[in-house]
Amino acid sequence: MASYLQIADDEKGHELDLFCVPRHYESDLDKVIIPHGLIMDRTERLARDIIRDMGGHHIVALCVLKGGYKFFADLLDYIKALNQNSDKSVPLTVDFIRVKSYCNDKSTNSVKVIGGDELSNLSGKNVLIVEDIVETGRTMQTLLSLLSECNPKMVKVVSLLVKRTPRSSGYRPDYIGFEVPDAFLVGYALDYNEYFRDLSHICILNDQAKEKYKV
Ligand code: IMP
Ligand code: MG
Repeated sequence: MASYLQIADDEKGHELDLFCVPRHYESDLDKVIIPHGLIMDRTERLARDIIRDMGGHHIVALCVLKGGYKFFADLLDYIKALNQNSDKSVPLTVDFIRVKSYCNDKSTNSVKVIGGDELSNLSGKNVLIVEDIVETGRTMQTLLSLLSECNPKMVKVVSLLVKRTPRSSGYRPDYIGFEVPDAFLVGYALDYNEYFRDLSHICILNDQAKEKYKV
């Protein structure tokens, strides 16, 4: 089973004014739950674990847009650093897929896959799916069943966050950065109706902000 850093349900987080938070979001957030530096440190270790398990064969890193783009970029930088500083290395190529399942702070039942290259390019490859957060697990299960039709050699999933929630289908990724409480999180590319991707730290959105940015 994947090990992860657990953020407890009663985690108090850090005061916003101890960090740099964009002015335009100050009234929308209560606390910083995962500072950017901690995200980076945990990501560095995930890169090492992934290379240990997958580093024998060409890796295609598949970014799940849009929420995964920050984690994808930082994780790949760490993987690249390992690849260029060791005697053993493998080619690393990238691909992108866009899925949408959320409206406001609720997961909808339909998982839409929009865009991305032909998934058939992934046939025979070691595929690493890079996701921001797993909540019910439906997005990832849908994606995994789509991928399996393309006959990849190996598929692993890394998610920066996994939410502890009774809505979970029980699905767990192969690699997990943090397990987080059942709250709506934003920042580090996680959004609420497209806002808050431009925030470096992962924060809990307050109820007032959910109204303010509602569609
Ligand atoms: P799932 O299909 O319920 O596992 O949801 C996964 C997707 O929902 C993620 O890829 C996110 O895009 C989105 N999501 C779930 N929880 C949150 C959250 O707390 N903040 C932002 N996006 C979320
Ligand atoms: Mg996502």
